[in-house]
Amino acid sequence: MIRHPLQLAGETVLPRAATRRPTEAPGLVDSFGRRHNNLRISVTDRCNLRCTYCMPEEVTFRDKRELLSFEEIATFVEVAASLGVNKVRLTGGEPLMRKELHKLVRLLVAIAGIDDLGLTTNGLLLADHAAELFDAGLRRLNVSLDTLNPDRFRALTRREGLDRVLAGLAEAKRVGFAPIKVNAVALRGFAEHDVVPLAQYCRAHGFELRFIEYMPIGADSWERDKVFFAHEILDLINREVATVVPVPHDPSAPAQDYAYTDGGGIVGVIASVSRPFCHHCNRLRLTADGKLRNCLFALEETDVKAYLRATPPQRSAIATALRESVWAKWEGHEINAATFIKPQRTMHAIGG
Ligand code: GTP
Ligand code: 5AD
Ligand code: SF4
Repeated sequence: MIRHPLQLAGETVLPRAATRRPTEAPGLVDSFGRRHNNLRISVTDRCNLRCTYCMPEEVTFRDKRELLSFEEIATFVEVAASLGVNKVRLTGGEPLMRKELHKLVRLLVAIAGIDDLGLTTNGLLLADHAAELFDAGLRRLNVSLDTLNPDRFRALTRREGLDRVLAGLAEAKRVGFAPIKVNAVALRGFAEHDVVPLAQYCRAHGFELRFIEYMPIGADSWERDKVFFAHEILDLINREVATVVPVPHDPSAPAQDYAYTDGGGIVGVIASVSRPFCHHCNRLRLTADGKLRNCLFALEETDVKAYLRATPPQRSAIATALRESVWAKWEGHEINAATFIKPQRTMHAIGG
């Protein structure tokens, strides 16, 4: 069978696993048999931008005492690692708003079993912190940048800062981060102008660019018309930058990557709306205030902060909470269905 380049394997209904209970299954397996090894940790809900697709302009951030300490996060990761988690990504809000984040990086890279640590940042504070993060052991960096045009940057983020993001990217490259990925949310009305310049900029600097379909997880009401679809992005790139061909794909990775046939590197699309990757999902999330979420779009959460704040921390209770949360995971988001319900938390408070 020839598969459309954007088509994911297994788009049929997932069969439920047999009657095993979460505590009997090895590792973090859900009732559809998906194994979870990829943990995304939000370290703060604060942000120094106000991207329209992510958060409202007026927002009350959580009291800092509600946020997990670095030690509490590290304890959680130790438990998760004992259950098979080997990949961790730090997110926010803007994670670099958290003071001395490099100290958390140092704690996490030392945990047995964690062999892949990444950070997703908006880049505004990156020039100041790139070197200390690299020295602490961080290597993988994803930087959010939707446009190279200062007016559109202001319109999308409701703030200034494009120059600082570009300086952050340059400094990250200088200190040796690899890979550096650039994440661009593609919104209709903007992406038409930004796809080509962003692609050219990233090709020139050796950054891996990924365009992300806009998802209903921000403050605004959901307008499907605003999604600039992956196939439209690829058409633009093929027509105005260079031809691209799909490269072999890890089905649990959100991005489908393409290689420029002229050797210009890689560009990817994260087609969460037009080609959901839920059937291969391996992700779970910990919010900055200590709630477990088994899906970006989950409507329920499990509190683990109390277990982490007990003296000593209740590791077996955390392990049970992790197993049960993963086991209870649904088949996938329903963005494309009439039954879709937008979670109460917006992206900045969940973790990008
Ligand atoms: P690596 O593969 O480790 O480089 O990272 P990643 O691509 O998982 O991380 P990144 O933070 O760059 O995520 C890119 C984008 O994918 C996010 O900004 C979200 O828009 C989207 N995304 C991340 N996690 C999920 C998820 O669980 N579900 C869906 N539908 N989209 C997600
Ligand atoms: N749709 C898609 N991606 C989003 N992000 C934030 N809000 C949305 C949305 N509505 C992504 C940003 C950034 C990360 C923090 O989350 O691109 O990469
Ligand atoms: Fe901040 Fe990222 Fe949300 Fe933009 S997308 S407001 S940079 S958390």
